[in-house]
Amino acid sequence: MRVVVTRRIPEAGLHVLERAGIEYRIWPGDLPPSREELIEFARGADGLLTLLTERIDEALLNALPTVKVVSNMAVGFDNIDVDACTRRGVVVCITPDVLTETTADFTWALMLAVARRVCEAAESVRAGTWRTWEPLGFLGRDLSGATLGIVGFGRIGRAVARRARGFDMRVLYTDKTRQSSEVERDLRATFVPLEQLLAESDIVTLHVPLTPETRKLIGARELALMKPRSILINTARGPVVDTEALVRALRTGHLWGAGLDVTDPEPLPADHPLLQCPNVIVTPHIASASETTRARMAELAAENLVAALQNRRPPRSLNWDEVRGKEN
Ligand code: DGY
Repeated sequence: MRVVVTRRIPEAGLHVLERAGIEYRIWPGDLPPSREELIEFARGADGLLTLLTERIDEALLNALPTVKVVSNMAVGFDNIDVDACTRRGVVVCITPDVLTETTADFTWALMLAVARRVCEAAESVRAGTWRTWEPLGFLGRDLSGATLGIVGFGRIGRAVARRARGFDMRVLYTDKTRQSSEVERDLRATFVPLEQLLAESDIVTLHVPLTPETRKLIGARELALMKPRSILINTARGPVVDTEALVRALRTGHLWGAGLDVTDPEPLPADHPLLQCPNVIVTPHIASASETTRARMAELAAENLVAALQNRRPPRSLNWDEVRGKEN
């Protein structure tokens, strides 16, 4: 068995492959392989351990007919055409759960940083422009007691809500399905339609997967519906927000600020207008980037890959039943 790992990953993941006696090759570049490079590099491989930067579609599968498993080191899988994989009998796996708390922590880091203007203030100190304590300097917004709107109430959205209890926030949420009354009570969260959530929240945070339905879910209309001087946080996927509409909403001052761990495009060019908006914090898609969590993600991705290659049900697969049958 031979697998290709499409970038250097934490050692914990490689140890899983080694213990299983699986031979692997790691793409050596700091940047993702181009499509042609990946096809050349992975020729003859039985499995791929991929990242969200690799597009896995029909054309790639056609070019790599020996691949039987694609194990993505991410919870999101918008980079993979799962239907195409299923049609070709290719098992697809992902790494949910292990990154939930770390991603929720980072969402809070962004919320606090934008609301309290942490980056602008710290930059002013570095630039040597801090002269004295100022009664009017870097005035921010309080999170305590504010209304938090959570769009997408899956594992990460709920973990964000759990943290909001400590800030005494009013929590609104919206999703395709409503949670049970026990969950709502426990998280002190109220289910509302998206429009109401946008109109009433001081901070709106996005936790939906990227699908055809959620692409540009937050466009010009939705941004206009947001409460004046509210804050938008996105740690989900960049294309969930219409970037140009967001720039306009920030420039007019309708939005007070934004914290974006994901953008469209990604990465953002250094001269992108979003980066000229003062109260915008853009981070390089690092919400899951803690030492422990990235090691767990690598391990789980490798465990998924090994299991599927050994014809055992992987811990977290999207299409095992369809590809290998429910009895396996
Ligand atoms: C994911 O897992 O989908 C994140 O975006 C990266 O951790």
